Amino acid sequence: MNTLPGYPLLTGAPLRVLFGALFSALVGALSCAGCSQALPTHDEATGGNPRQGRETIVRYGCGACHTIDGVPNARGLVGPPLAGIGERSYIAGHLPNTAENLMRWIEHPQRFDPQSAMPELGVTQADARDIVAYLLHQP
Ligand code: HEC
Repeated sequence: MNTLPGYPLLTGAPLRVLFGALFSALVGALSCAGCSQALPTHDEATGGNPRQGRETIVRYGCGACHTIDGVPNARGLVGPPLAGIGERSYIAGHLPNTAENLMRWIEHPQRFDPQSAMPELGVTQADARDIVAYLLHQP
């Protein structure tokens, strides 16, 4: 009987902690799923697939040199951060910033600026389309 007063202490509090942890894990999982669900699969400006584009950015390793919102491990500091790239007036300081020019830059940076530290990565036209679609839809 004298274990009864301890009962709520031993199970009530730890249970509350456990459920609290489960609840935040669930909310975390749901909000993360929400993030990727929010990414459209079609972008008007480029005709590309933003959701696919994020995977493509990971595949080419752009994140080694650029910080890109919403892309896991994209925290590079070699090139400029690509957050808000759609708002910038010029690409790499001199190409007028249009979706078309962004795609051309990503495919062939050295063709536009042989002095640039951004290398030719062999990005295909279709991949550049998806990449730019994502860049214009960053969270
Ligand atoms: C080896 C490092 C490196 C890699 C890898 C790299 N970049 Fe870059 N990138 C740069 C540098 C440096 C610049 C700045 C170029 C300049 O201003 O001449 C740049 C510029 C850019 C710009 C123009 C940014 C601006 O603000 O004007 C975009 C867009 C871009 N990169 C996208 C990409 C994408 C997409 C990938 C992957 C396919 C990629 N980069 C891979 C180094 C890199």
